[in-house]
Amino acid sequence: MLNLDPRLYVDPAVFGRERDTIFATAWQMLGPAAQVAGRGQYVAADLAGIKVFAIRGRDGVLRAFRNVCRHRGAKLLEDGTGRCATIRCPYHQWVFADDGRLLNAPWFGEEPGFRPEDWPLEEIHAAEWRGLLFVAVDPREDLLAQLGALVEELADEPIETYQAVRSETVSFDANWKIYTDNFVEGYHIPGIHPKFFAAIDFEAFETTAHKGFVRMTAPPREGLFYRGKWLWMWPNWTLSLFAGGMNTSRINPVAPARTEQLYHFYFADLSPERDESRSDTIARNLAVVREDYEICAATHRNYEAGNYRAGPLSPRHEQGVHYFQERVRESLGR
Ligand code: FES
Ligand SMILES: [Fe+2]
Repeated sequence: MLNLDPRLYVDPAVFGRERDTIFATAWQMLGPAAQVAGRGQYVAADLAGIKVFAIRGRDGVLRAFRNVCRHRGAKLLEDGTGRCATIRCPYHQWVFADDGRLLNAPWFGEEPGFRPEDWPLEEIHAAEWRGLLFVAVDPREDLLAQLGALVEELADEPIETYQAVRSETVSFDANWKIYTDNFVEGYHIPGIHPKFFAAIDFEAFETTAHKGFVRMTAPPREGLFYRGKWLWMWPNWTLSLFAGGMNTSRINPVAPARTEQLYHFYFADLSPERDESRSDTIARNLAVVREDYEICAATHRNYEAGNYRAGPLSPRHEQGVHYFQERVRESLGR
């Protein structure tokens, strides 16, 4: 098993290909479905440059669209969450209904061939699974097929009963695949996360690849807030279990050398007395997350400078890296 060719991490042409063959064709996890529980509530997101939003219509139906005006292509909604009755383009004020219909093109003028019903927003796919929201621009398979063996893996974990209390977006200067390579192995824990290392039985750390996901487990020692199980799902989302809840994240490429990670933190017990303990869990969790960014950025710079040729992957610890990279190779047709 050899690491991926470093050029695949830095080439802008590869970045564009990944957008088309991975991010436009695979389901993307956008965090808790509760964000779009109420009528008019929406989530607008960037998927490797593709702008989309999901919205709960006044008819109660969840839909998703490209976040692009049909007139001259302006972006309709700012990224993030919100609520609206109709969607008004900030550019020339066209107004769309929450089911995508063009309602009004003010001051457009008389044009006999122009019919508003010909210019609805371009609809994409939306789905909910166990309390999580997903969208897909041009899916190659249905959501359950993409999730694969994860469905079974999480069958006994009551994830839909946890409620998201906080979201956090972090970004760093490395290709999304360098960060993913890092996420799907525990090999770097002794070097990069000394406190975390001390809090698990590292000798018993296990990494296995399954259809659609990579599982990492380690028996926790006293005082670790994690429950000793970390999951990464193709192509770019994660779910980690911690005491009384979990986090999810989406790893989103912004540029070949820039990645953002959008976290949500969920808990079973939302009582005010547990407020401090929840904040503490989130802070400790984010501290571990941030420990990875510098090493990823430095690795990226080595790849970018042509300073590295692909090296060998550990059979003991890097099965997850291999699984991820094989799927990338397959998607890029290599
Ligand atoms: S681009 Fe939206 S109204 Fe012109
Ligand atoms: Fe790490």
